[in-house]
Amino acid sequence: MSTQIVNGFSRLSREEKIKWLENNFLTDPNDISAQLYSFLHQDCQVQKVLDGFSENTICNFPMPYGLAPNFLIDGKMYCVPMVIEESSVVAAASSAAKYWAERGGFHTEILGTVKVGQLHFKRAHFDTKDSMGANFINTVLEQYADALEAFFVDYDSLPDEKRDVQIIMAILSNHTPECVVRASVSCPVSELGTSGNGMLAEKMAEKFRVAVQIARNDPYRATTHNKGIYNGVDVVGLATGNDFRAVEAAGHTYAAMSGQYKSLSQCEIEDGIFRFWLEIPLALGTVGGLTSLHPLAKLSLQILGNPGAEELMRIIASVGLAQNFAAVRSLVTTGIQKGHMKMHLLNILNHLNADQPEIEKAYAFFADKTISYAAVRTFLESMRVPVS
Ligand code: MEV
Repeated sequence: MSTQIVNGFSRLSREEKIKWLENNFLTDPNDISAQLYSFLHQDCQVQKVLDGFSENTICNFPMPYGLAPNFLIDGKMYCVPMVIEESSVVAAASSAAKYWAERGGFHTEILGTVKVGQLHFKRAHFDTKDSMGANFINTVLEQYADALEAFFVDYDSLPDEKRDVQIIMAILSNHTPECVVRASVSCPVSELGTSGNGMLAEKMAEKFRVAVQIARNDPYRATTHNKGIYNGVDVVGLATGNDFRAVEAAGHTYAAMSGQYKSLSQCEIEDGIFRFWLEIPLALGTVGGLTSLHPLAKLSLQILGNPGAEELMRIIASVGLAQNFAAVRSLVTTGIQKGHMKMHLLNILNHLNADQPEIEKAYAFFADKTISYAAVRTFLESMRVPVS
């Protein structure tokens, strides 16, 4: 393991970077470069574009690109592209989308699209001698504010003594409480149907409502609950080339605006109607940045019908709500692990190098059994015992 500082790393070619990696950080470099090269795009032009998105790139890091069909949003049907490595997310989104498409679909409302930019500047220092000086300081600060305003109108009008106002930084704020969308679903409780484990609609609805209430009150649960929402939000954000870190940061601040971190979604049952909604800040783009450069981000937007930013807000909020609905419904009915592990079975089988006949037998065997890594390994071992 190297302890030497490397200089000029970014100026090395891809080959040189990989060589350096092998020499310094890989104890068994066998096949590493071949593996890395195998993930490069076959079209050099596309690879050049991909490399341009970051710095010090040595290859690409593939992620599954899937589709969640049947999203009925404000009366329009969408097929939503998703980039995610968690097996159950696309399945959950697709199933919730179909479920709500049969019950009127998602309804959305843009609550605002305003974003905030900030200029931070360093305040002057005052020595007000024997006076407390608040009035004096406030007066001068107000003059600074006026001068700063005037600066943008007419630079020359700024008095000399005020020119040393020091701008600390200028940056947009990712906190976007005025760039918010609401997505909702509703139907009579009786139409919620019987859940997979035979739980009746009334019971499921009430447990669901209480589960959301818990996430409104308990930050521990709220964090996990909101993570479920971002399972839907981030993956479409990523698929459309949006900055999902900014989107998440905004959401978590928004969730804490009351002074306590809360769930972003809410649920009520009134006069026999089940209503579930999500209010979420989403500062998104559909032009510029990665959206038009990344070939798959471009494709994602095309699949969605080339929406503007507001339409994309509506779509992503609906996907977040769908994801949240699917997760909470599982939690209050079958429990999350059953579905999760069923989706994860293939990962475990691949990890244990199962071949196709073994995979098929494992799916049949575990159809009605609890799936765990140990159980799958034991199952495969039992099948692989040589017949004497
Ligand atoms: C897992 O990725 C997401 C959930 O934990 C969300 C939730 O608990 O609501 C299932």
